[in-house]
Amino acid sequence: MTNVAVVGAQWGDEGKGKVVDWLSERADVVVRFQGGHNAGHTLVVNDAVYKLSLLPSGVVRGKLSVIGNGVVIDPWALFDEIDRVRAQGVDITPETLRIADNACLILPIHGELDRAREEAAGGGRIGTTGRGIGPAYEDKVARRAVRVCDLAEPETLRFKIDRLMTHHNALRKGLGATPLDGEKLFESLQALAPRFAPYVAPVWRVLDEARRAGKRILFEGAQGAMLDVEHGTYPYVTSSNTVSGQAAAGSGMGPGAVAYVLGITKAYTTRVGSGPFPTELFDSVGEGLGERGREFGTVTGRRRRCGWFDAVMVRQAIKVGGVDGIVLTKLDVLDGMDQLNVCVGYELDGQVLDHFPAGMDAQARVTPVYETMEGWADSTRGARTWADLPATAIKYIRRVEELIEAPVAILSTGPDREETILVHDPFAD
Ligand code: GDP
Ligand code: IMO
Ligand code: MG
Repeated sequence: MTNVAVVGAQWGDEGKGKVVDWLSERADVVVRFQGGHNAGHTLVVNDAVYKLSLLPSGVVRGKLSVIGNGVVIDPWALFDEIDRVRAQGVDITPETLRIADNACLILPIHGELDRAREEAAGGGRIGTTGRGIGPAYEDKVARRAVRVCDLAEPETLRFKIDRLMTHHNALRKGLGATPLDGEKLFESLQALAPRFAPYVAPVWRVLDEARRAGKRILFEGAQGAMLDVEHGTYPYVTSSNTVSGQAAAGSGMGPGAVAYVLGITKAYTTRVGSGPFPTELFDSVGEGLGERGREFGTVTGRRRRCGWFDAVMVRQAIKVGGVDGIVLTKLDVLDGMDQLNVCVGYELDGQVLDHFPAGMDAQARVTPVYETMEGWADSTRGARTWADLPATAIKYIRRVEELIEAPVAILSTGPDREETILVHDPFAD
């Protein structure tokens, strides 16, 4: 049985939620394996809009939804989201939602530290979502995090919080924040523990059982390859590995569990927050993309920066993420444009580069080399078959495939679940 990983191939917000929702009709289990509530995945099903941050997008169809060990969980945000999505009529029970016992928690101190650092950084800020993602992953790697399983062991919880407070109070002092004693945190986590308990499981075993029973597993990535802590535009990245290699480690399965990697790719480029963006547009063309594409962040409401499609960057994302095929999304946003530019190389100090360099200064200074293509006047919005597409749109897609060295497996022509064209079934591989 083929398991599929869905990962972002740009800077996030490529339409992963829509694609996971669409694919999950034929999957049995949907797993999140990294990130936290910095993610914002929007699903449009007829007239209903679901905005998910921590819950796997399979919950909407009632599929078994797993929050893997690689995710950092803010328990308060999680229960708020569960309440909000339940109020939309979605059934979420301990039978449909399983949370890894060995996942780490995001605590209020993490959000505070994230925001305090951003404020102190002034012009050098990363533009994080302020959700405490970075500080929580720091504590995880430093081996002092509070994990989900600690909620069931009061003595361990107290020990962990004491140790965490010693570290955080030193940091808080440096930032001019008042020191905290851990008692309030201990009490509020103790109060949450009974609500958490029914969902907690060794999810590696849940997944192993599902796999051996021949169930189909869909891995749902958050963010995108260029926000990966190693492969992205460091330090303007998130604090987790967002590439498909993380799907296995972040859920407790071996690398062979993922048979097909689907890279979600917008037909142009967007980015939220700071950092290099070679094809960014600062003119009315960029504004037009933002308006037609409704490019405002799901999580923070921030305006997304917009620019031309960057084939060099996507090709690199495809290589580092082992992407087998892409879903080209938001093609309809390009409708009505006379000409389209596609970045096919970068220029740096008189040299042409065929990849995105690793250095921070080089990343900031590269300028795009463009190939100009003809646009199309007709609408592709809501197209359900290849035959509905204008010839110039097909030409654009074919050129993109050539440049990124990967095929388009699925085409998305609108936000609704049904506004989708299947070219190659990723489950069939
Ligand atoms: P994610 O973070 O990758 O799940 O993406 P987001 O949900 O943050 O952002 C993608 C936005 O584009 C959402 O509002 C989707 O409803 C919308 N969307 C997805 N696919 C398409 C598409 O093909 N066309 C248009 N116009 N909108 C789309
Ligand atoms: P989805 O899953 C777009 C960006 C932030 C910031 C950087 C670091 O919806 O695609 P963080 O809070 O993670 O420490 O912020 O990463 N970022 C995203 N941008 N989509 C996301 O998620 C993002 N999650 C984080 O804007 O630049
Ligand atoms: Mg998003």
